[in-house]
Amino acid sequence: MSYKGYAYINTIGCQMNVYDSEKLAGILKSHGFEMTNEMDKADIVVCNTCSIRHKAEEKAFSFLGRFAREKKKRPHLMTVMAGCVAQQEGEKAFARVPHLDIVLGTQAFSRFGQHLDALKSGKKQIVDIGESDVIFEAMPEKDRSDEDRSDESGFDGNKISKFVTIMQGCDNYCTYCVVPYVRGRERSRSHTSIVEEIKILAGNGIREITLLGQNVNSYAIKEDGLSFPQLLEKVSCVEGIARIRFATSHPKDLSMELIHAIRDIDKVCNHLHLPVQSGSNKILKKMNRGYTRETYINRIQALKSACPGIALSTDIIVGFPSETPEDFNDTMELLKIVEFDSIFAFAYSDRSSAPAAKFSDQVEEKEKMTRLNQLLELQEIYTHKKNKALVGKFLEVLVEGESHKLRDGFVKTSDKMKQMTGRSASNKIVHFPSDNCAIGDLVTIRIENAYPHSLWGYPGS
Ligand code: SAH
Ligand code: SF4
Ligand code: F3S
Repeated sequence: MSYKGYAYINTIGCQMNVYDSEKLAGILKSHGFEMTNEMDKADIVVCNTCSIRHKAEEKAFSFLGRFAREKKKRPHLMTVMAGCVAQQEGEKAFARVPHLDIVLGTQAFSRFGQHLDALKSGKKQIVDIGESDVIFEAMPEKDRSDEDRSDESGFDGNKISKFVTIMQGCDNYCTYCVVPYVRGRERSRSHTSIVEEIKILAGNGIREITLLGQNVNSYAIKEDGLSFPQLLEKVSCVEGIARIRFATSHPKDLSMELIHAIRDIDKVCNHLHLPVQSGSNKILKKMNRGYTRETYINRIQALKSACPGIALSTDIIVGFPSETPEDFNDTMELLKIVEFDSIFAFAYSDRSSAPAAKFSDQVEEKEKMTRLNQLLELQEIYTHKKNKALVGKFLEVLVEGESHKLRDGFVKTSDKMKQMTGRSASNKIVHFPSDNCAIGDLVTIRIENAYPHSLWGYPGS
């Protein structure tokens, strides 16, 4: 059954949601919709939601809530709540957003088309939070022109890099986290389907792939398939792909085999995101993370000696229930020992479906914010220090596009001269002048200046 009109997708949450939203866009298009970036023009609005923290959840409700009035003016307007909040709330979503047409849980994406058809035949208020054995995997369209791709701008940020989900769900049950409840048990896609998808993306001009899973180190262990490092090897054979990234690695499962894959496979970037969450053994235990501060630091040392210059990033939660100033200090000290290139830090947010919500000694909101700011302030020193250490070095940069906020060093020496921007393998943003490079090129840049969050240099070799 075909519709006519425009579809708008608002994506909140992690990279997996970005990936899923593209697939939802594919289903909408196959049902006759054209994608738009203008919300007011849309005939169907989809919000792909996240429930990892209270704030993300509220964002979803307030975004969808604002269509109540619009729907009175335009009764044909359809609204869809998809993803993690949808899975968590089910029927209850209608109590807060009565005008919703579809509540589409995380394992219901492959049935989205059916529900659109049902809506067209008059069905109302559809809820699907059922389970599914199959992983939602729609292949991308082949040979799309740049023009075709432009209607998805805003999904991935640039047109040379794409996310590819390799597994769904999580079996780790960290006590603060909703993911096992909203995304279900851990399931891995087959390596043949992953590689097939990446080949199509490479054919479409994609140069960089980020493989996604909540814990990529346990890829296909249940399915008895390839190990994750073996998958990296297979993906690295796809012609046209210049760089491979992946997220997330769980410290308890980080193997020497993976460390060696980062060292030995050229296309695998010299960067690892390894969430530590806390530097205190007491808190790590209460979080059910399955490693100690000491094992984490040992893994980091093994990584640094096998892969010199590796860039490291992490996630940290401050103010987990019963975190004392001493526990927090252990986290601050860990930052000084590891010297991460960047961190993502969050104030602990109580999630009613996760066990930690029932833990005693909750930390006051104000105290969480004080600790968060202290941590971020400390990290600024290391982020800048890591950038400054790159001055004078040559970095290979994958060009993402033109950057318009011109740096001091930019001099327009010819008509064609532009300030370009891209990323190094270590995930640093690098700006440089050029009159002859194109998006997707790999260029060598000599770094001249280091800013807190970016670098500046000149092409050269
Ligand atoms: N699977 C990944 C991350 C998933 S969620 C991993 O294990 O690292 C991304 C980040 O959100 C987590 O690493 C954690 O730092 C943060 N997070 C998860 N639940 C949270 C909560 N209840 N409050 C605050 N931050 C949370
Ligand atoms: Fe959540 Fe822990 Fe699973 Fe990561 S490993 S998704 S933090 S339960
Ligand atoms: Fe959020 Fe769901 Fe991702 S809860 S972080 S969108 S898996």
